[in-house]
Amino acid sequence: MRKKIIAGNWKMNLTLDKATKLTKDLEAQSIPQETEVVTFVPSIYLLPCLSLSKQSKIGVQNFYHEKEGAYTGEVSAYQIDSTGAKWVLTGHSERRQYFGETNEDVNKKNLSAIALDLTVVYCIGETWEQREKDQHFKIIETQISEGLKGISASQMKSIVLAYEPVWAIGTGKTASPEQAQEIHAFIREIVAKIYDKNIADDVSILYGGSCKPGNAKEIFSNADVDGGLIGGASLVASDFIEIVKAIS
Ligand code: PGA
Repeated sequence: MRKKIIAGNWKMNLTLDKATKLTKDLEAQSIPQETEVVTFVPSIYLLPCLSLSKQSKIGVQNFYHEKEGAYTGEVSAYQIDSTGAKWVLTGHSERRQYFGETNEDVNKKNLSAIALDLTVVYCIGETWEQREKDQHFKIIETQISEGLKGISASQMKSIVLAYEPVWAIGTGKTASPEQAQEIHAFIREIVAKIYDKNIADDVSILYGGSCKPGNAKEIFSNADVDGGLIGGASLVASDFIEIVKAIS
């Protein structure tokens, strides 16, 4: 049985006082046992948020693939692991778009985090232009095959995939439930092709892109949608909790 997961992605938002308040507000709610709730915080807030989190998990949004060394300004999966945090986000389209991350870069990150048994939420998704040219299936297939290169079948238990159509991120446009289901089913097919059907059945696939309390239930009602990666709405505790409830 695959896990239901709601993940928040704060991106580069909030000051320390607001970040800790949001974590406390979330912790004050009761989170249904069968749902995994994780918040990807700016890494500078990792420790305070981690120390406040009992029911929910805290992860970081970015890291460098090398273990340690002369890489000024970077943090590694190894350092994240040493704090007790167990979740990382990779492949987000904003990292691809603004920081030039390629599938190959993301693959290195995935391998370094997986080697430490961290849970990786690996984001994939097409731009509007790619969809219009009918390239989206190919783009997604390549993101999966290149991003997961070298990850063994047994390591797949630590991989969560997040389908985030770039055109739906922060735009207020959401993929329709049919569009989401079509791509999620396709993603599962690709995972079955690379690994096998059991692994494909077990991998959680989250939807991300303008997911809000008002549309979450409809998106989550699709057979292959196992949760959400939530940006804007994760910054408001009451909205985020409503989305958590929508999957439960
Ligand atoms: P959004 O962001 O919910 O604000 O569209 C989602 C994401 O980028 O993870």
